[in-house]
Amino acid sequence: MIGRLNHVAIAVPDLAAASAQYADTLGAKVGAPQDEPEHGVTVVFIELPNTKVELLHPLGDDSPIKGFLDKNPSGGIHHMCFEVDDILAARDRLKAEGARVLGSGEPKIGAHGKPVLFLHPKDFNGCLIELEQV
Ligand code: CO
Repeated sequence: MIGRLNHVAIAVPDLAAASAQYADTLGAKVGAPQDEPEHGVTVVFIELPNTKVELLHPLGDDSPIKGFLDKNPSGGIHHMCFEVDDILAARDRLKAEGARVLGSGEPKIGAHGKPVLFLHPKDFNGCLIELEQV
């Protein structure tokens, strides 16, 4: 059911420093910061030949990644995003298998303008999973 790895998201305490490290130290193609107010994050996309890395930094006081950074002050892997062809079919199959979908269970429009859903990390070996319909 899941397809390509769309991105790995890393929560970072200092977005400018992390962006510079990926650009200068790792020699990656790093985009400009994008504010995503409806998701409570500022995002920087790093384009790799086979996937993307998404640097996440809290935006606003009730950012969903603030608690993660409080627990992991130097940053850390926050989630992985897998592509699916049909997000509603994927959701229904996962729910039937007992997996918990976060939030209302209805897809939201994610940072790439595509519908996304998140799956409870406790159901997937401690890893928050994002599904994105492509
Ligand atoms: Co993501």
